[in-house]
Amino acid sequence: MIKPYKSDALTPRFVCDAERRAELRREAEQLPSVLLNSSSASSAVMLGAGYFTPLDGFMNRADALSIADEMRTQSGLFWPVPILNRISDEGDIAGERITLRDSEVAGNPPLAIQTVESVDTLRSDELMHIAQCVFGTTDHEHPGVNTFLEQGAIVVSGPVEVLNFSYFETEFPNTFRTAYQIREDIERRGWKKVVAFQTRNPMHRAHEELCKTALERTASDGVVIHMLLGKLKPGDIPAKVRDDAIRKMVDLYFPENTVIISGYGFDMLYAGPREAVLHAIFRQNLGASHMIVGRDHAGVGDYYGAFDAQTIFHTDVPEGVLDIEIFEADHTAWSKKLNQVVMMRDAPDHQKEDFILLSGTRVREMLSAGESLPEEFSRPEVAKILMEFYRQN
Ligand code: ADX
Repeated sequence: MIKPYKSDALTPRFVCDAERRAELRREAEQLPSVLLNSSSASSAVMLGAGYFTPLDGFMNRADALSIADEMRTQSGLFWPVPILNRISDEGDIAGERITLRDSEVAGNPPLAIQTVESVDTLRSDELMHIAQCVFGTTDHEHPGVNTFLEQGAIVVSGPVEVLNFSYFETEFPNTFRTAYQIREDIERRGWKKVVAFQTRNPMHRAHEELCKTALERTASDGVVIHMLLGKLKPGDIPAKVRDDAIRKMVDLYFPENTVIISGYGFDMLYAGPREAVLHAIFRQNLGASHMIVGRDHAGVGDYYGAFDAQTIFHTDVPEGVLDIEIFEADHTAWSKKLNQVVMMRDAPDHQKEDFILLSGTRVREMLSAGESLPEEFSRPEVAKILMEFYRQN
């Protein structure tokens, strides 16, 4: 199987030994504590699950700035997005070890213990600079930028020992999986080549076709549908509904034993190209040999060009850094001529009017208005789940 990113083995920061975990939980009650914001909490979950191998904890200010400028940490590790624990009040920190409490779970239980290496402040011009480099904009209307700029300016770096997987393991017990669990699953199935599919949507016919085409053209044994289970911008469809829709689609429309349905606990950044590179790193870590990047991957609004998230792998990712390969997908749409979903570049004889394109925004408008989704866009069984959700909300 493909090796984890820059490592021979995964380095999950979750403390697997139950006795040691109990000991740490007792220690956590005695230590000074800080409340993690949702974004940092989800980063702790990713570190715990092994997805961020080879990182062992949160980065410092210098790493954040160096990643913004050069996509490298100070020690030279290629990495696209700073992974930070950001707080507002330094007064909370006293001592070398601190408890990181979970803002996303009632009662704010300990999520991890951090051994503090440094406490630094990012100036507001530095925060703007990082936003510009990572998101390509400082516009507050961008949901990822808005979240990024609202967080505290104090950066607490150092390794973490993770005690649980926050609300992800309790709310999504059948879907939340760590990188090491997915590796075990791939191993058990005897798959050699594996395509990963990132999604934050219920899967429509274009998504289904992308997975099937990638499976075939990469000659892979299976696809890991890896859905985001963390926070999204208002208006995006909740994870529970997406999970139901995806399971229904796989059940009815994929050959048996070709799909692993799974999810990861991270908040959506909407950072387009930079997020696509982060996605590739953590898909390599879960054991995928390929990852699909299609149109406007991890994008929002008009902030990124439709294929910027493919271009970055050619322009900014140095040769040989990643072992995972990118399956670059073209815009996928319904062909009226062929009566099926196709990648547009595979139908060179088509004119624009030969395709039916539906944007996610238009689909949400139709669902909100109680209209049914056309068959060309969504499988009827998937459409039914989505319409049911919109009826009740
Ligand atoms: S994302 O924010 O997670 O990227 P989404 O779940 O819609 O959003 O997309 C998942 C993957 O499918 C991404 O790689 C995206 O580029 C790709 N994709 C979605 N719709 C299309 C489409 N119509 N044509 C080509 N690629 C698409």
